[in-house]
Amino acid sequence: GKGQYRHFMQKEIFEQPAVVGDTLQVFVNPQSRAVTLPDLPIDFAKVPRLTVAACGTAYYAGMVAKYWFEQIARLPVELDIASEFRYREAPLPDGGAALFISQSGETIDTLAALRYARSQDQTILSVVNQPESVIARESDAVLPTLAGPEIGVASTKAFTTQLTVLACLTIAAAKARGAIDAAREAELSAALTEVPARCAELLNHDEAIQAIAHDLAEARDVLYLGRGAMFPMALEGALKLKEISYIHAEGYAAGEMKHGPIALIDETVPVIVMAPSGPLFDKTVGNLSEVSARGGQVILITDPRGAERAGEHAAHVIEVPEVDPLVAPLLYAIPAQLLAYHTAVVKGTDVDQPRNLAKSVTVE
Ligand code: F6R
Repeated sequence: GKGQYRHFMQKEIFEQPAVVGDTLQVFVNPQSRAVTLPDLPIDFAKVPRLTVAACGTAYYAGMVAKYWFEQIARLPVELDIASEFRYREAPLPDGGAALFISQSGETIDTLAALRYARSQDQTILSVVNQPESVIARESDAVLPTLAGPEIGVASTKAFTTQLTVLACLTIAAAKARGAIDAAREAELSAALTEVPARCAELLNHDEAIQAIAHDLAEARDVLYLGRGAMFPMALEGALKLKEISYIHAEGYAAGEMKHGPIALIDETVPVIVMAPSGPLFDKTVGNLSEVSARGGQVILITDPRGAERAGEHAAHVIEVPEVDPLVAPLLYAIPAQLLAYHTAVVKGTDVDQPRNLAKSVTVE
């Protein structure tokens, strides 16, 4: 049941500290804080390239992972939407590995992508939430998310547990490839171990986010902007808002703004900027001030340092704890989910069963 919550989606958002913690326990030894994966049928030191395919929110988890694998593990990644990948007959490298991400493990396009990769002699890994599913059965190795049953059609806890598994996989790959030293590994594992506590802190901002959602509910169009691993988070934030509130929303790489979307900006368009302080922050602040100069209403999601430096350009600031860049996407997911959730509640839509959508897409 929903217990004290009004919707399954809300309950599932609030379960995230617990289920991310459960998922971490599978991969991180609490004493040594070392990441240990189950025995994998591949040697990350030798894999020439990782192919990743998935749909929807699971695809955005894969896109975050592409940034991680490439930056942290120095492992080249090819990422595609499963419905495209299955038909584009991409050549895949000898000795390559392919990774499929799916909550249900039953998504038809993801399964077809997996079977294509199998036909090309790739080693198949999957990140799935349903261990009894067909994608799990057809994989050489399964990395489970322990999100528990996800009832709300909009994916929340499945997404953050996917990110948790993918972050562990990144650390293991980085170690195998000699891309990080023991000190950095310890730092990354420690940052991951602290995610459940940081998520719980963030969930305490629920009421402040609810207040902002009242403004958002008035909008016809909403833009989400991010750079680096925050770009897929912007795409995910926009997907969450559109699917449950039916407000038109788009995610963009912040640097793409001036290549087109800035033409849309006026005082009626809220722009949600997801920007942790760090090396890319000043660039994103540049985009943010361009938006506010055109009357755009900026909702800035950042950490305390970012808020101090750029808060003046924003109509609202949502503060997220400052964390290692590896784990930032896990935290920024939460305000994006809460904004979408509360906006949908204000609009009175059917949050758990949005129109036209099914929880798992088993036909093309
Ligand atoms: C969005 C959403 C969908 C799913 C997509 C993939 O909130 O739920 O975009 O993420 O249909 O589903 P799975 O992960 O079951 O393959």
